[in-house]
Amino acid sequence: MTRIERMEAARIASLAEELARGAGGILRKGFNQRLAVTYKGRINPVTDLDLKSERFILNGIHRKYPGHDILSEEGGGLRARSDFRWVIDPLDGTVNYAHGFPVYCVSIGIEYRGELLAGVVYDPERDELFRAVRGEGALLNRRAIRVSGERRLERALLATGFAYDIGTSKKNNLGLFARMAKKAQGIRRPGSAAIDVCWLAAGRLDGFWELKLHPWDTAAAVLILREANGRATRINGAEYSIFAPDLLASNGLLHRAMTAVLARK
Ligand code: IPD
Ligand code: CA
Ligand code: CA
Repeated sequence: MTRIERMEAARIASLAEELARGAGGILRKGFNQRLAVTYKGRINPVTDLDLKSERFILNGIHRKYPGHDILSEEGGGLRARSDFRWVIDPLDGTVNYAHGFPVYCVSIGIEYRGELLAGVVYDPERDELFRAVRGEGALLNRRAIRVSGERRLERALLATGFAYDIGTSKKNNLGLFARMAKKAQGIRRPGSAAIDVCWLAAGRLDGFWELKLHPWDTAAAVLILREANGRATRINGAEYSIFAPDLLASNGLLHRAMTAVLARK
């Protein structure tokens, strides 16, 4: 990146941080309060706080960068053919949030010409702000983070998740979960893919996979992971894209072993 591009990236990351903190504050305030819940499918909820958080973020982007493209989960799309695209999950972990289970976050990733440029994930319950700019490392509350050094699957703590069509789809991750559970030290299902991947970046987890994610679940966290020296691909080891549904993320050292378990026919 040129010096000018780097300065612009830092400005954009700072706005993303400000908006993620602001939206996170709104979520924190609404946590454990009465919610208006509607459903996008059988078990896929949207609360009024998803929408409130999204509105706050989109207003902030429109004010500073009205010409930028936006891809946001709850419908705030804008295609202006800009070089920049903001990819937003205003509340990742809605099922947790709706139950008062304190694992949820705000995720904001920014692409420049189709490549991840900056990412911010804010966890209001722990006041943890994960942030990365491409080529400049990853930070947790302004301190550099790095993935774990674990090499053995049987000593690895992994995370995964299940899509909302788990009750009706054959591709439900239950078989892979069972297979991996026999190989790893432990597997968790925290319920927010963006937090899972950031915790992997910070060395709290050693690997993560999921089969049916959306661009807003992973855009910010995958950049944070890569900048923390981690690795992200598709389950079979092919190149990752925010539009690919499946993700295999690891500290890098466990990637081959995890692919071997997950990609086996
Ligand atoms: C969900 C969470 C969950 C993952 C699902 C996602 P949402 O996002 O990240 O951990 O397993 O696949 O859809 O609906 O809470 O924004
Ligand atoms: Ca999500
Ligand atoms: Ca969401």
